[in-house]
Order: sequence, then structure tokens, then C-alpha cells
Amino acid sequence: DEQQYDYDVLVIGAGPGGYVAAIRAAQLGLKTACAEARETLGGTCLNVGCIPSKAMLHASEYYDALANGAMAKMGVKATGVELDLDTMHGQRRDAVKQLTGGIEYLFKKNKVEWLKGRASFTGKNSVEVAGKTVRAKNIVIATGSSVTPLPGVEVDQKVVVDSTGALELPKVPQHLVVIGGGVIGLELGSVWRRLGAKVTVVEYLDQILPGFDGDVRKEAQKIFKKQGLEFKLSTKVTGVAVSGDAATLTVEPAAGGESQTIEADCVLLAIGRKPNTDGLNLEAAGLSVNGRGQVEIDHDFATAVPGIWAIGDVAPGLMLAHKAEDEGIAVAENIAGLTGIVNHDIIPSVVYTMPEFAGVGLTEEAAKANGEVKVGKFPMMANSRAKTNHEPDGFVKIIADAKTDRVVGVWAIASVAGTMIAQAAQAMEFGATSEDIAYTCHAHPTHSEAIKEAAMAVTGKPIHI
Ligand code: FAD
Ligand code: NAI
Repeated sequence: DEQQYDYDVLVIGAGPGGYVAAIRAAQLGLKTACAEARETLGGTCLNVGCIPSKAMLHASEYYDALANGAMAKMGVKATGVELDLDTMHGQRRDAVKQLTGGIEYLFKKNKVEWLKGRASFTGKNSVEVAGKTVRAKNIVIATGSSVTPLPGVEVDQKVVVDSTGALELPKVPQHLVVIGGGVIGLELGSVWRRLGAKVTVVEYLDQILPGFDGDVRKEAQKIFKKQGLEFKLSTKVTGVAVSGDAATLTVEPAAGGESQTIEADCVLLAIGRKPNTDGLNLEAAGLSVNGRGQVEIDHDFATAVPGIWAIGDVAPGLMLAHKAEDEGIAVAENIAGLTGIVNHDIIPSVVYTMPEFAGVGLTEEAAKANGEVKVGKFPMMANSRAKTNHEPDGFVKIIADAKTDRVVGVWAIASVAGTMIAQAAQAMEFGATSEDIAYTCHAHPTHSEAIKEAAMAVTGKPIHI
């Protein structure tokens, strides 16, 4: 009986998945509430993830460019360059405050009710939030993820930090050791390296940036090395001992062997993230998690229990904000009886360092495993705008099916690769061939021309190399 429900849709979690789902559901005329345990809306991404990390990356890049003489080379000279870390943190907090406040405004505007507190299932259609039972016809689980712990490493947010602690260090460490050469390690490692820390990245695998194209991973390591990051690859951390302000890491070869120690005054644990389901009481709803702790869903984001849906980091797939947002829109549309679809084969990934590393679709390795491919590559060194801006590092690589010429993957290393990759995703979404991209007029002089030239290189005819 419809009458007994308080809401048509209750979303649990107000991250990019949950808040977007809630807004779209309300836009579609459904009575919607969103439960959030945090003091502010926006989830990991706005509060302690995408946004504050980009604020620190942006500001530290300016500092580095002035301090390392890159600005002076362009005739912009400054003396007495100083780091005012408090102001840098202040502008980060301002950005977060404005954006989380913006979501609160959007909730009011769209009449999404914010239920403040941690939600826990009490049945298939009911949850408890802040001591109150709420019934909803549809419940969307969008509880996100949190840091994966490492046995033997205790995060105290002072000497041993996770990404949240690493965003707000009160002073620049002398030696920051990052455990994990993935996206967080490279972004936040770059921030503190630029601000003056010695940074060592300890990575279990023999290459950094898992999931990225092989060429990109190789080049990334060279570029970061040139920027002063040090790497210990094929190495595992077996423990961290903290004494006062100092940490001693014990590491050993990933394959086993003699252990070594590394001294540091700050350790960042960044070995991945795990889905948040603790305390949700999924059992009460008749749900369980898979071997990776995720809530399983079908193509429509429906779980095994009718009326319960899951999206974002808590569900399988890439743990990215834009993936969560698109799933948020799609799940709301499905609940409303429309057709909500996300093409999980075309989700861009971006590392927001300088240069940026970006990709969409298949890596060359994966594409080759599927069949014959043609690959076109174009170096940023030969792109006039990158050259003019003194940004010689990087390349664009386009992978196309050898028979049909259809583009199956695009990878880019460039100062603005994250922006450039959007056109690649759109082209692939439209089923473009490399020829389609090569014969599309691109404005000159732009970094994006490198995508056009890489497409021309697929059939062997770029102009500028
Ligand atoms: P979340 O954003 O994690 O939100 C879930 C929310 O649910 C949280 O606010 C949590 O408090 C709440 N919650 C959990 N359980 C309950 C409960 N029982 N009751 C009520 N509320 C609950 N991705 C990108 O695409 N680009 C980036 O640049 C990027 N940078 C990142 C940088 C860092 C340092 C980190 C840690 C992550 C970054 N990510 C980035 C990943 C991105 O933050 C996540 O993919 C994204 O936030 C997932 O969205 P979500 O809605 O699934 O979950
Ligand atoms: P990650 O999965 O990107 O990288 C973790 C790295 O740690 C891997 O290279 C892995 O091999 C390594 N590792 C695992 N166990 C280890 C051990 N015991 N010792 C040493 N190395 C070990 O995870 P990360 O960097 O923590 O980020 C989590 C997620 O957050 C990312 O997967 C991404 O989805 C998201 N994120 C996205 C960003 C973006 O889009 N720009 C930025 C930051 C985070």
C-alpha cells in the first residue's frame, strides 16, 4: 500500500552518487529524502577527495612554478617567494565550504529532504536515521568508500595519515613516504613534493598507476622522477613503527627477501579504498556483499531485493565521482520508469598532476588481447601550444580496431589532458573512427590538436612530425 511510505525514494549517502540521484529523483516528481551521516553534503569527493585535492594541487603548482624558476624563465620574476601554508589551507577549505553549501542549496531548491544522521536498514523498505524509522518505496544505497587499512600500519592522522590527513598537514614534512603508487599517492605526493618535501613512493607492483595504459605508466614514472619523486617499486611495507614525530617503515621485496627500513616524518597510506557497508545492517533488508565488499547490482542498478538499488563506490566498477554521478542520474530515471543507462566501457580516468594523465576505453594491452589494432601516437613536444607554454612532456595515443577503424581507447599525457579526454569520450560514445577525428577541424593553437594528429597517425599521416 503506497500510503504507508514516507518517501518514494530514500537515498543513503550524499556523495556525488547519492546527491545527484536525490536531485534527479525530485526533478522527476518523486518525493525524495537523502540521509547523510556527515555534517555537510557532497560525500568524500567534495569534503575530503576530488575538490580539496585539486585545491591543493592548483595552489602548490603556482608555488612550485615560482619557486623552481619556471616562471622566471618566462620573464615573470619574483624575489622572496614564500609559502604561506595557512592561507593555502584556507582557500582549500573555502572551496569545499562553497561547494558543499551549494549542494545544500540545490537540495532546498529541488525539495530534497536531508535526513541528518547515519542510516541503518530495519527492513526491506525501512531504515532508521537518528532514532527515527523512515519508510520508502525505493532505497538507493550510495554510501561510498573509505580507506583500505594495511595490517601493521596504524593511521593516527599525525605521523601516519590517510588522504584526509594528507590534505591538511600543518607543516611541510621533511620526508614523506607514500605507501601506494596509485592516484592518491601521486596526486598528494606531488602536492607535498612541490611544497618542499622529499617524497618516496613505495609501490607493491613493478609499475605505478595500475589500470592505465602501459606506455602511460612508463612515461608517468619518468616524468615524476624528473620532478623529484623517488620510487621503490616491487616493494611491500610490512610495518610502520612510530616514535614521537618519527616513523620507521619496514619494507621488503614484494617477492620476499631481506627487509630494510626507511625513516620518515610523515607516512601516507594510499593503497586503495573499500566500500562502506559497516553499520548499514544490510541483512535486515535481505542483502549481502560480494567477496570485495560491494553491493552487487544488475544493469539497471537494482540489487537482488526489489526496491533497493546501489550506485557509486559501494557498487562494482571504477571508484570515480563522475561514474557515481552518472549512475545517480540513471538510477533515478529507472526508478521513475524511464530508461537510465551508463556506458561503463567509456568512463574517463584522470590523474590531476602536472602534466595530467588521462585515458578512456581500452589500454593498448587490453585492446590487443581482443583483436588486431592500429595505434597512432603524437608527442606533445610537436604540439605548438604545448611547446609555446613550455609543456613538452607527454603524448596522445589513439587505439583503433584494425578492421573497422573504430576508436577503442584514447590516452593522453598533457597539461590539460583531463579536459582533452572529454572529446575522446564523446567521439567514442558516437562510435567514431580515427578518420572521423582526423577530419574534424580542431582550433589552432590548442593542445587538442594533438588528438587530431594522433588520429591522423593511426593511418600514418600526421603533419607535424
Ligand atoms: P562518497 O562520496 O564516498 O559518499 C558517500 C557518503 O555516504 C559519505 O558522505 C558518507 O558519510 C555517507 N554515508 C555512508 N554510510 C552512511 C550511512 N549508513 N548513513 C548515512 N550516510 C552514510 N574521483 C574523481 O572522479 N576525481 C577525483 O579527482 C577524485 N579525487 C579523489 C581524491 C581523494 C583524496 C579521494 C579519497 C577520492 C577521490 N576521488 C576522485 C574518488 C571520489 O571521491 C569517489 O569516487 C566518489 O566520492 C564516490 O562517490 P559516492 O557517492 O559513491 O560516495
Ligand atoms: P589505487 O588503487 O589507485 O592505488 C593503490 C596502489 O597501492 C596500487 O598501485 C597498488 O598496487 C598499491 N598497493 C596496494 N597494496 C600495497 C602495499 N601493501 N604496499 C605498497 N603498495 C600497495 O588507490 P588509491 O591511490 O588509494 O586511490 C583510491 C581510489 O580513489 C582510486 O582508485 C580512485 O578510484 C580514487 N581516486 C581518484 C582520483 C582521480 O580520479 N583523480 C584521485 C584520487 C583518488
